Amino acid sequence: ASLLILNGPNLNLLGTRQPEVYGATTLKDIEAKCLTLAHSFGFELSFQQSNHEGVLIDAIHAAKSTHDLIILNAGAYTHTSIALRDAIASVEVPVIELHLSNIHAREDFRHTSHIAPVAVGQICGFGAYGYELALHAAADYLRK
Ligand code: DQA
Repeated sequence: ASLLILNGPNLNLLGTRQPEVYGATTLKDIEAKCLTLAHSFGFELSFQQSNHEGVLIDAIHAAKSTHDLIILNAGAYTHTSIALRDAIASVEVPVIELHLSNIHAREDFRHTSHIAPVAVGQICGFGAYGYELALHAAADYLRK
């Protein structure tokens, strides 16, 4: 199986961005960990980040013919983007929603996710380790 981990706005700054909220691990570190874990499951893994909503939408469309599942941390677009939600609903690729922080324990505006209703499930609050949890969840989901 082939997986895509797709990261949205500001996640390129992980490691230096509000480390008290998001931790000290960089996106490069996360990518390296995920590649090792994905390969141990026998998965191919693509890892992508964009700060642009349209680029994320294009990546979801493209995944339709190239990937079996998407792990998506849409960043703040989670709370604002109906276009991203529609993109997910428009392709048959299952999506696991992921956040480093516990969005439900933060500001009210982070409690709403436009992604959640079209996702298989949501993982949040476990920091960088959430990416590994999401890979385990993906492996289990694809096995079924
Ligand atoms: C985030 C949570 C979002 O509310 C925030 O806008 C982000 C990161 C997370 O991973 O915790 O950019 O998706």
